[in-house]
Amino acid sequence: MTEKRLILMGPPGGGKGTQAKVLQEAYSIVQLSTGDMLRAAVVAGTGVGKQVKAIMDAGNLVSDEIVIGMISERLDVEDCVNGFILDGFPRTLAQAEGLDSMLKEKGIVLDSVVEIRVPDQNLVDRITGRFTCSKCGEGYHDTFKLPIIADSCDSCGNAEFTRRADDHAETVKSRLETYHKQASQLLPFYESTGLLTVVDGDQDMVAVTTEIKRVLDS
Ligand code: AP5
Ligand code: MG
Repeated sequence: MTEKRLILMGPPGGGKGTQAKVLQEAYSIVQLSTGDMLRAAVVAGTGVGKQVKAIMDAGNLVSDEIVIGMISERLDVEDCVNGFILDGFPRTLAQAEGLDSMLKEKGIVLDSVVEIRVPDQNLVDRITGRFTCSKCGEGYHDTFKLPIIADSCDSCGNAEFTRRADDHAETVKSRLETYHKQASQLLPFYESTGLLTVVDGDQDMVAVTTEIKRVLDS
């Protein structure tokens, strides 16, 4: 059975997006990244996009109300029926409680919460070296994952790549501080449900995937 419903937690640059993209293929489930959804809203210039742009560029969290509403609507879309990976949500205790009640209302049960743990000192390099295919969203890194053919996306062949507005060394420190503050509340919350597993994210990408799959398949 491939049906999986999980939360991927982890620090900025920890590898949530990288792993979610692999897992969505492996298990035929969808990646629900609040960061990606918010960035799409900014690019599209929607009301929410205009509201959150400056907050995101500064590396601060947007309101619980916005992201809870966004996820609640997204979970009703048919492609979530077979399972999903929540990437970057929930991030606060209020969001975890909001998720809990919306899942109960929708009759959905979570299988797993995985925290990808990486020491802070490794994350600055990961974040400042990151770039993404502007067409399909495939993620790359200046050192750890270059396209096989230079300037051509491995997945779609597109030649244009983008870098995120919040991906610079100055915002990483405050994004990390926020993460640790919120995680100190979220981790005990999910520990108490018995769903939480910590995975070592300080190893190569394939080894991290293997560990996460072991958790999901157990
Ligand atoms: P979001 O988009 O969620 O950003 P984040 O949490 O800061 O995490 P990142 O996307 O930076 O890192 P990642 O873990 O996905 O790492 P990746 O796989 O890319 O949120 C952005 C903003 O949106 C927030 O700051 C906030 O403003 C807002 N927001 C979003 N959700 C919110 C919420 N729920 N509530 C409130 N506000 C919210 O990997 C990073 C790089 O490292 C890549 O280049 C990759 O190739 C490389 N890499 C990955 N794994 C490895 C490995 N094992 N070894 C070497 N390199 C690796
Ligand atoms: Mg991400």
